Amino acid sequence: MNVLIVGGSGGIGLALVQHYLAYEDANIFATYRTQKPSLNHPKLTWFKVNVTVESDIADLAQQLPKLRLLINAIGMLHDGEHNPEKTVNDFDSDFFNKNIAINVTPSLLLAKHLAHHLKTKSSSHFITISAKIGSIEDNRLGGWVSYRSSKAALNMALKTISIEWRFKQSNTCVLAFHPGTTDTNLSKRFQQNVPEGKLFTPEYVAECLNNIICHTSANDTGKFYSYDGSILPW
Ligand SMILES: NC(=O)c1ccc[n+]([C@@H]2O[C@H](COP(=O)([O-])OP(=O)(O)OC[C@H]3O[C@@H](n4cnc5c(N)ncnc54)[C@H](OP(=O)(O)O)[C@@H]3O)[C@@H](O)[C@H]2O)c1
Repeated sequence: MNVLIVGGSGGIGLALVQHYLAYEDANIFATYRTQKPSLNHPKLTWFKVNVTVESDIADLAQQLPKLRLLINAIGMLHDGEHNPEKTVNDFDSDFFNKNIAINVTPSLLLAKHLAHHLKTKSSSHFITISAKIGSIEDNRLGGWVSYRSSKAALNMALKTISIEWRFKQSNTCVLAFHPGTTDTNLSKRFQQNVPEGKLFTPEYVAECLNNIICHTSANDTGKFYSYDGSILPW
């Protein structure tokens, strides 16, 4: 089983790499952008990739075999200069464009360059870690407009890819996944109000996602799953 984890250097991404290393028959390919993680293993190959850059993804595609599973675990909520907006008065177009570039574009580029790798006789999965905050129907609180809009755009991109691939590669299941609040660098500064028992470890989230993968097939393509296996509204 060949598995690609995009963003294997992130909190959730690294937990996914570790999770799949436990499978005897798995070969893991994983990407990082800045610092190569210290995790080494004979079944693990690291690639330095900036997945917002199309030529980087095209180069990566040339080095990979057919894949059973591709999970895109990269994402951004804040950077050194900006926090998510409390109100629309805090809106900054550069920060908005950065959210789109990191949270949306990579999944489209991965679908463009790696569709062929997922076209297999048996089933395959193409999954991106989204966030419930990107659900338009579920939006009751407002705020965080750039991140929220980028995840909504990501969801639309995934739904669109799933419809296209239903005809072109009917064995591939395309899903969006909401991990719940997970203890990583991305959420660190927003964890104060998380109810007890609702701040998850990346290891738990990796298990939840794998559970969903094990219980879904191409018949489920185009769905948005929460960590507990429930289906979220787009
Ligand atoms: N943590 C949560 O509570 C939570 C909740 C809902 C959804 N999510 C989603 O879960 C996903 C994973 O987040 P996380 O919590 O694991 O965050 P994280 O620990 O901050 O990891 C983020 C990852 O994104 C990568 N990345 C950022 N910009 C990149 C770029 N331009 N090119 C390539 N890689 C880039 C980082 O790579 P480098 O480290 O190499 O720069 C890192 O691997 C994100 O999509 C996030 O929106 C998280």
